[in-house]
Amino acid sequence: MKRTAAFALLPLTALMLSGCTLFPSAADHDKAAADTLKNSFQARGIAKLDRLTQDQANAECATADATGKPLDEKMSKVIEEANMKTVKWPTDGKFLGDWKEGEKIAQSGRGLTWTDTATTENGGNCYNCHQISKEEISFGTLGPSLYNYGKLRGVTDPNSAGGKAIVEYTWGKLWNARAYNACSQMPRVGAPARPGVARQQVTTPPRWPQATGVSC
Ligand code: HEC
Repeated sequence: MKRTAAFALLPLTALMLSGCTLFPSAADHDKAAADTLKNSFQARGIAKLDRLTQDQANAECATADATGKPLDEKMSKVIEEANMKTVKWPTDGKFLGDWKEGEKIAQSGRGLTWTDTATTENGGNCYNCHQISKEEISFGTLGPSLYNYGKLRGVTDPNSAGGKAIVEYTWGKLWNARAYNACSQMPRVGAPARPGVARQQVTTPPRWPQATGVSC
């Protein structure tokens, strides 16, 4: 009788033992997703597969997003401080450039794709997420409207001492948005993580009397 019971239990024991293979862990799911991504893309032209590699900020923010558990304050600080270190401030102290050039860069989505070359001038693609000028009616709304940005930020003259803090913040924000907001969805336009940034031109929204022009 006892023996029969033991035999009867065998399939159940086997099932329990193999439980880990029947039910993949979260790590297994992560690996499967990463493999699927890797296998779905192929390197072409200047667009290589290293773009799929997440840095610490991307990984931490993606996890926070997936779990619905916001980053804790300590981790946010670590990410922001690390990103702040990548910001290059103008060596000549000039933050403002030609706003018309800024508008062109804000409009352009060119650069870094497989149909671009290593010397293609990168655009900022700013209108994808921001309203900037009143004339351009095709814009995304993921980011806040930057129409009248200076006024909204209380700056009437970006050359004045009173406007200095916001002008500097704007430069840094464009260079690396995560320096101020760990999980910002804004591309890190000047960050070294992005290939081709050595030629990147960054501008502030053209509603400034002049726009910030960075050439590095
Ligand atoms: C993929 C979307 C996206 C793109 C592209 C983008 N941004 Fe942003 N931007 C955001 C989001 C979202 C915020 C608000 C969250 C934050 O501050 O990180 C933001 C914030 C900003 C701010 C700060 C506004 C404030 O009042 O503090 C500025 C300035 C800005 N963006 C300028 C630009 C410029 C200039 C470009 C192009 C070079 C650009 N953005 C491209 C999404 C984007």
